[in-house]
Amino acid sequence: MNLKKRMKTFVGLCLLSGGLFAQNVCVSTPNTSLLLSAPEGGELRILYYGQKLTDADLRTFEGERGIDAAYPVYGLTCITETALSVQHADGNMTLQMAVENVATTDADNATETTVRLKDKVYPFYINVCYRAYKDVDIIEAWTEITNGEKKPVTLNQFASAYLPIRRGEVWLSHLHGSWANEGRLVQEPLVSGMKVIKNKDGARNSHTDHAEVMFSLDGQPRENQGRVIGAALCYGGNYKLRIDTHDDEYHHFFAGINEDNSAYHLEKGETFVTPQLALTYSDEGLSGASRNFHRWGREYKLANGDKLRKILLNSWEGVYFDINQEGMDQMMADIASMGGELFVMDDGWFGDKYPRNKDNSSLGDWVVDQRKLPEGIEGLLADAKKHGIEFGIWIEPEMTNTVSELYEQHPEWIIKAPQREPVLGRGGTQLVLDLSNPEVQDFVFGVVDNLMTKYPEIDYIKWDANMPISNHGSQYLPADKQSHLYIEYHRGFAKVCDRIRAKYPDLTIQACASGGGRANWGILPWFDEFWVSDDTDALQRVYMQWGTSYFFPAIAMASHISAAPNHQTFRTIPLKYRIDVAMSGRLGMEIQPKNMTDEEKALCKNAIAEYKQIRPIVQLGDLYRLVSPYDKLGLASLMYVTPEKDKAVFYWWKTEHFVNQHLPRVVMAGLDPDKLYKVHELNRIDNVPLSCEGKVYSGAYLMANGLEIPYNHIVDYHKQNDYASRVLYLEAVK
Ligand code: DGJ
Repeated sequence: MNLKKRMKTFVGLCLLSGGLFAQNVCVSTPNTSLLLSAPEGGELRILYYGQKLTDADLRTFEGERGIDAAYPVYGLTCITETALSVQHADGNMTLQMAVENVATTDADNATETTVRLKDKVYPFYINVCYRAYKDVDIIEAWTEITNGEKKPVTLNQFASAYLPIRRGEVWLSHLHGSWANEGRLVQEPLVSGMKVIKNKDGARNSHTDHAEVMFSLDGQPRENQGRVIGAALCYGGNYKLRIDTHDDEYHHFFAGINEDNSAYHLEKGETFVTPQLALTYSDEGLSGASRNFHRWGREYKLANGDKLRKILLNSWEGVYFDINQEGMDQMMADIASMGGELFVMDDGWFGDKYPRNKDNSSLGDWVVDQRKLPEGIEGLLADAKKHGIEFGIWIEPEMTNTVSELYEQHPEWIIKAPQREPVLGRGGTQLVLDLSNPEVQDFVFGVVDNLMTKYPEIDYIKWDANMPISNHGSQYLPADKQSHLYIEYHRGFAKVCDRIRAKYPDLTIQACASGGGRANWGILPWFDEFWVSDDTDALQRVYMQWGTSYFFPAIAMASHISAAPNHQTFRTIPLKYRIDVAMSGRLGMEIQPKNMTDEEKALCKNAIAEYKQIRPIVQLGDLYRLVSPYDKLGLASLMYVTPEKDKAVFYWWKTEHFVNQHLPRVVMAGLDPDKLYKVHELNRIDNVPLSCEGKVYSGAYLMANGLEIPYNHIVDYHKQNDYASRVLYLEAVK
């Protein structure tokens, strides 16, 4: 590349760059910079990632060699972890990549930088790509790997991106869990050795570990102080995050598709595009990094991320499989009378030859069970209209059961190993459809398309997925591509979802996968929200939603008021607390309203009305986590603040209960110190107002001192219990 072209390329990237640092490429967002050294014919190396660099700072990097290769490849250097490892057709296991050129494209919202690398011997290419947003502090990194050789090259490892993180007292925050206990926060110091966070479910990927992490660079993680690097792999399939700490000054972080059992044979002329790794940096602690992910997510990733979500009732915990016309009508009437806006009919509505009465049949037979719903979906839509609400429906389109008409007609559509009886999933009969097969893709698209064509008034779809990929084997892929199954499954899934979104952009779709199995930024561009967990117990939800909020905004976190005793933990939690927890996410209900007392219904009606007032703050505002339930201080607290800092909602939940307990007074965050805020308690049940009710406090005072919150509710004796929670609405006054 000639110098003139290079200078032109770099002018858009580095302020003052010009010819001065002609080999350095600076990728910047409003407050962050990623600096690379990209000498033509030399190695692409990473110089820096963190707080935005000034022109003076940039100058100091001139001529620096950098920390490490920006995308380390295997072969000539063998002793460290690498991002990419391949085997060429002639058996050669090595790569040696050199910079060929750098290109930038400038779009409205982001600048894309592509560094093209070529192997020094083979016609093998890597585009190392970065998209830096202009209005949010996120840089997306990914690679495009092209085989220009005459024969296939096998990719044995193919990470999306690599980042060295300077050693010191670095702590890792990540999410770990299991079904009904998703999104638990784990915080640990990074020590020597290898930390691997991975998934092998095949179909879903966030029940156990999550594909997102945060690194606190200044010792023990803090919510509102300290430097933090965050990373989120945007991929719905198997992933692997590696943090290798060996004998040098850096923790070496790699993230990408999990290559286990997935060796990829890259054909001549083919390009393999890795998923994006979204990187962020904040000096406002973990909550600051979360706000960056949330803003970027709402603006650029989440389907309809700028539209407020409806308040719904889902039928699952209310009636389970016991679906019938009368029951659905009653639930619709009840949610409408409480001010709800949407009713979702869950599992159990379909199947003709094999009615779906339990979880052991009928998936794939997406026809209404006329015995349960004689007036069909039309009847339900008419009921919804009568009650003035919208209607939604549950499907699980990627799956079938051995007991189904679909399986009888298309046994060749299931994922199954040749010559072996398949291992079966849920209900002892469930199987996963082979989405690598275009016929299956058409079928799955058709499940949504047929419903929406016949019943265009359907407003919401709950898309479930209740089985991992077992039985490694595609009846569609050729023998030499069997190791592509996991990757092709997700390519097929993406094709289906792209088609659905192209045709139905406004349809609300929830990603559910046995609860929280699909909370990932690779999934959410097609989905409006996800079901956080099948566990609706409010106390456990405080912990799960806390963890989930590290990477995902409240607007995407479906959070429902359910029955007491809770159906998963059997814990009896008062309705006020259940409401206050559900109201910190996308509020809904998951309960049989006909079993509620009039007083309970009135409480919910009031809560729904109040949630409507604060909905824009919760769903579109900035999150400040204040006291973590994981710190075991006896309470948890967080707040949402509008970007203008004129309104805020403060949540306070007690997490344990003892007499004469001494709870910390919670200091607020995110307010304007110079503004005055009037305090009003929402969902009040106490006989007397709080002492702060109606009073006006400065933002500075609230952020230095917080408010005194009584440990118990002042209610009649027979209403007292061991839970307390508060929701305070703060509005700036002149
Ligand atoms: C699992 C989901 O997580 C539940 O909410 C419910 O939809 C059931 N599947 C239905 O089978």
